[in-house]
Amino acid sequence: MVRVFAAYEPGVISAAAVLRAGGLVVFPTETVYGLGADAFNLHAVTKIFAVKRRPSFDPLIVHVAHPKDIEQLATGLDERVWRLAERFWPGPLTLVLGKKVSVPDIVTAGLDTVAIRVPDHPVALELIRLAGTPVAAPSANPFGYVSPTTAAHALGQLGDSVDVILDGGPCRVGLESTIISLVSKPPRLLRPGGIPLEDLEAVLGPIGITADPTPRPLAPGQLVKHYATRTPLDILREPGEKPSVSPGEKVGLLAFRPPADTDPYAVVETLAPDGNLHTAAANLFAALRRLDALGLDRLVAEPCPERGIGLAIMDRLRRCAAKQERKP
Ligand code: TXA
Ligand code: MG
Repeated sequence: MVRVFAAYEPGVISAAAVLRAGGLVVFPTETVYGLGADAFNLHAVTKIFAVKRRPSFDPLIVHVAHPKDIEQLATGLDERVWRLAERFWPGPLTLVLGKKVSVPDIVTAGLDTVAIRVPDHPVALELIRLAGTPVAAPSANPFGYVSPTTAAHALGQLGDSVDVILDGGPCRVGLESTIISLVSKPPRLLRPGGIPLEDLEAVLGPIGITADPTPRPLAPGQLVKHYATRTPLDILREPGEKPSVSPGEKVGLLAFRPPADTDPYAVVETLAPDGNLHTAAANLFAALRRLDALGLDRLVAEPCPERGIGLAIMDRLRRCAAKQERKP
């Protein structure tokens, strides 16, 4: 039985008790909803992998309430870490750092590094504080599917297999955190996300980028086909391009601005009527889920410029459009 609570104090207190007792709690963050467990409880973390049907080689992000709390999890904390923490935490930035032996191997999929962030959401922060332990949490969706940006998304897909869902409303950012590794030199971008690369480079200097989605060695979390809808999706070469549509074929369009002409589409989702890419990011996953629920034959998405948050939007669209999953 899953209990759903509005994210006010009594619900958060109950959810923290569930975490302390080794249960699973879905909670809101500024990026997407997370599926949380006590990071130091092996049994609880094992349940995360089972519920998500997530392969054990894919490590989890550990969430803490205060930057100082990373000292119990990570090694090699140099001034770059504290500069980034000062500037971007709480916020959608995940740092990959050397791992302390106290962090269970299951959390990090056996790697000698650990991914950590301080989420920028009052409910997430209060939950972690009250639980009194770092919280390991992937996005609260079945492995490979689009991340949830509302409690209803998580309830619909994980439902009974979790203990509590805290409903804190829609997520503000709507895309997952940016992940950078500080273990590699120079620092390396592992996943574009809520914090633009340009903002990180302003603090850190040049950051290495792995070209995407061209073939590359498989690293954790870099499966090419990910964040995917069930309905096949293609990315148009430019906004306004018309795909050829067979008679009777039902095609949905994911547009950034309202299209001048809705022909030949069965449905059009507009991500950013205000023309702001942050609005588009916040709406992206919910729009993909709505289109995916319609039983259309095919989806097409407009591209956007790969600057700022646009880099993360295009990364998610490309992964959604990728034709096959790479095997480990
Ligand atoms: O915004 C977010 O980051 C959300 C919220 C809930 O915090 N979480 C999230 O978690 O997106 P998840 O598990 O869906 O994605 C985490 C990614 C995975 O691709 C994983 O492979 C990568 O982080 N990751 C975790 N630990 C890592 C490590 N030590 N080295 C490299 N990649 C790591
Ligand atoms: Mg995920």
